[in-house]
Amino acid sequence: MSMFMFWQMNRVNALRGGTEMTKNVLVISTNLRKNSNSEVLADSFARGAEEAGHHVEKITLKDKKIAFCKGCMACMKLKACVMKDDAIEIAAKMHDAEVIAFASPIYYYEMSGQMKTLLDRANSLYDSDYKFTDIYMLTAAAEDDEHATDRAVGGLTGWIDCFPRASLKGTVFAGGVNDEGEIDGHPALEKAYEMGKSI
Ligand SMILES: Cc1cc2nc3c(=O)[nH]c(=O)nc-3n(C[C@H](O)[C@H](O)[C@H](O)COP(=O)(O)O)c2cc1C
Repeated sequence: MSMFMFWQMNRVNALRGGTEMTKNVLVISTNLRKNSNSEVLADSFARGAEEAGHHVEKITLKDKKIAFCKGCMACMKLKACVMKDDAIEIAAKMHDAEVIAFASPIYYYEMSGQMKTLLDRANSLYDSDYKFTDIYMLTAAAEDDEHATDRAVGGLTGWIDCFPRASLKGTVFAGGVNDEGEIDGHPALEKAYEMGKSI
């Protein structure tokens, strides 16, 4: 959606006196393999949000360079990380989004290492005037047991707890998918689409 359409939709809503506003939605797909299952979940969520009229941007970490956080804490003073890689721009987009949906494969019953690294590198958001309030988590795992996602969701909740205006609004889990693209036709895709549509 262009910025013009985004502005126009907000204006139409305002003229109608409606409370439903177009939201800035950031979908962050953290897997690194092609034909990723969790990325298809991310795409379904994004499609739903877009069809509901929101301004949606999807980022994939596939082509990004994001180093580990060194814990120097310079970000607390400077309000930005001193390590100049792709985490800087993504943290800025996270700051400005009202809704953030993370998609991750389950690795050893946790979120992907690259997702955790991104959260750490976005430490400049802590105690900032961040906009995000609604957080979603979309996961895929080989095991078809919804508890396979518990620690990953728990880990994200730990992050959310550090941002008092934000809360976890929903999760979608696709279980029983291991091979690339195996998620095709999985009922979780419809769930992710409907969740995106309902924000
Ligand atoms: C390093 C690694 C660890 C994994 N750990 C788990 C696990 O703990 N439980 C599980 O059910 N599947 C596990 N899997 C399988 C993935 O979650 C599964 O293949 C998933 O579909 C990957 O999603 P993606 O296609 O988005 O990368 C693991 C896969 C890898 C590569």
